Amino acid sequence: MALFVAGNWKMFASRAGVTQFVDELASHWHTADGVVPVVFPPTGYLAQLQTELAAKLPGCVALGGQRIHPEPQGAFTGESSAAMMLDLGASWVLAGHSERRTLFGETDEMVAAQVKAAIVAGLKPVLCVGETLAQRQAGEAEQVVARQLDSVFAKLDAGFGEGAVAYEPVWAIGTGETASPDQAQQMHAFVRERLSAMDAKLAEVPLWYGGSVKPDNAAELFAAPDIDGALIGGASLAAASFWQIIEQAAGLTSA
Ligand code: PGA
Repeated sequence: MALFVAGNWKMFASRAGVTQFVDELASHWHTADGVVPVVFPPTGYLAQLQTELAAKLPGCVALGGQRIHPEPQGAFTGESSAAMMLDLGASWVLAGHSERRTLFGETDEMVAAQVKAAIVAGLKPVLCVGETLAQRQAGEAEQVVARQLDSVFAKLDAGFGEGAVAYEPVWAIGTGETASPDQAQQMHAFVRERLSAMDAKLAEVPLWYGGSVKPDNAAELFAAPDIDGALIGGASLAAASFWQIIEQAAGLTSA
């Protein structure tokens, strides 16, 4: 399976920054066989990023949106639909990132509706799941992740398409504290088992890890058998560190 190296830019971007990022990434680029890089910029920068990538790194980097509204269109000020993401050049979309769940009150039901809308429109969803520190300390990590998975997968009558699941322990996001490869592998194995038990086809769903992934810890995470990719926040903002993580992934997939 290919390894996914995905950059979640959150609310960090500018037109000049996009140009600089693509120029710098192109200057580092060489063959990265078996790696699928994806960038998730703020929605307003998708089109510029698509144009610049097509000119300087054609076919090398896929794009994704950070969130969609489940309706195809309508009077929903401030929102964007799955069809709009596709129109702007995205082929992926995040759903249920912990910042959306905690800062914007997104419920499991809202996340399930977004995942469903993405699949119906032909956008690949990345369902983000993960427990807080308090939940881990209370021994509830698997229970929380199971609930987040079940609430989405129970409603998927049209399958999961080519979607992915990202395990992002909330206590590791933006904190500099990463789950150890063992902790991450353990949860990934749990997710894999739970999905396979629902439907044998779901055993193939790529499982990404997210939470303070950096060039110096990426390789050991990628070496875990059930880690098929990384969702990277801070370290994806600079082309140099994003590229270093792509290189780590390329080294491992060609081995
Ligand atoms: P981080 O963010 O790499 O900065 O911890 C990861 C994420 O939120 O997807």
